[in-house]
This record gives sequence, C-alpha cells and structure tokens, in this order.
Amino acid sequence: MHGSAMKVVAFNGSARKGANTAILLGYVLKELEKEGIETELVELSGAKIHGCLACRKCSTNKNHRCSQTGDVGNECIAKMEEADGILLGSPTYVADVTPEIKALMDRACLVSKANGGLFRHKVGAAVVAVRRAGAMHAFDTLNHFFLISEMDVPGSSYWNIGYGLEPGDVEKDTEAIETMKTLGQNMAWLLKKTAC
Ligand SMILES: Cc1cc2nc3c(=O)[nH]c(=O)nc-3n(C[C@H](O)[C@H](O)[C@H](O)COP(=O)(O)O)c2cc1C
Repeated sequence: MHGSAMKVVAFNGSARKGANTAILLGYVLKELEKEGIETELVELSGAKIHGCLACRKCSTNKNHRCSQTGDVGNECIAKMEEADGILLGSPTYVADVTPEIKALMDRACLVSKANGGLFRHKVGAAVVAVRRAGAMHAFDTLNHFFLISEMDVPGSSYWNIGYGLEPGDVEKDTEAIETMKTLGQNMAWLLKKTAC
C-alpha cells in the first residue's frame, strides 16, 4: 500500500481477449474508476506463461521474483506487488480455471510466501464466466489464492459469475452485470477502509 492513488490490477485468464470474462471484469473496473481508483486490465491471452517448476529458487533468492524468465510471470507478479487490489478473472474450462491463470497463481503464491507475504492485506476478488456448469469450482480455485495470501476478499450480492458462451453473451445476464457492479463498489469500499 502507498500514499498515492490506489490501483487495482485485473488479470484475465481467458484464451479470448475482450470476451465474456473481460466484459465482466470491465464492469468491476468501471465502478472502481468511479471511486477514483486507477485500474489496469492484463489479458493473458496469447502471452507465454509457464507453470511453477517447484525449484524453490524463489525461497533462496528472496528477490520478489520467480526464477523463470522469458515469459510474463515476473511482469505479472510485479504488477500484483505494486497494486492495492487484485482481480483474477477466468472462464470455466472443464469445471475449473484456465492453465494460464493457474500458472500465474501458483508462481505468485510461492514468490509471495518466499518473501514474507507480498500480498498480505491487499484486496482481492474473483470473477468467472461460464456457459453452463463448473463455475463455482473455478470461483473457489481463484479464491484459494487470495485466502492463502492473507488478502481481504469483498463479497457481492451473489457469487461473481456470469453466464454466456459466445463473446458478448454475458451482457444478457443482467443479474451478473449487477453483481459485478456491486462487487466493484464493495471492493472500492474495502480498499478505502483498509488503506494505510
Ligand atoms: C476448453 C474449454 C472448456 C470449457 N469448459 C466449460 C465447462 O466446464 N463448463 C461450462 O459451462 N463452460 C465451459 N466452457 C465454455 C466457457 O466457459 C464459456 O464460453 C465462457 O463464456 C468463456 O469465457 P470467455 O468469453 O472469457 O473466453 C469451456 C470452454 C472452453 C474453450
């Protein structure tokens, strides 16, 4: 946390840029911006990101970085460390999150632990897009990252899930849009309450 304007960074694990998960995240980000909070959306689509190698070098190096270079992992971890709030968004793929967002979560989690808890008391929230089923499992997977990172998680009027298959379909899920807007408002409220 820092004295200047607060910032929330959102990571979209979808293989499709600007599609349903990005749209849902966009509604959350718009509410945060209304509250004067700076936002950034990072779309992992097309980016190279490898899973954790379990090399444990982050525990010996303790330099806030993953030992793997040559992909976007460390860039994303640095953005997480700088931000006051982190949104993780994923479509539901076979009743879980995408490999890209899971790779980021695994590596960021170990780097954070290796360095004394880089994300402690940052505010975090999960957003999931789904065609039909498996979204709760994906939602739980994303929340595991926040909870083991000692982050503070705001709720909304429902779980943060939107329904749609083709890009843009989630716009028809009016309850999901309202849920995202409320999430953005609640995230802004919590960020301001917990700002140092
Ligand atoms: C590999 C893959 C697996 C999927 N698995 C599921 C699933 O288990 N349950 C479901 O309801 N939809 C599933 N879907 C559909 C997506 O969750 C849905 O289209 C979602 O809106 C995609 O989000 P996006 O537009 O941000 O990419 C799957 C799609 C793909 C490409």
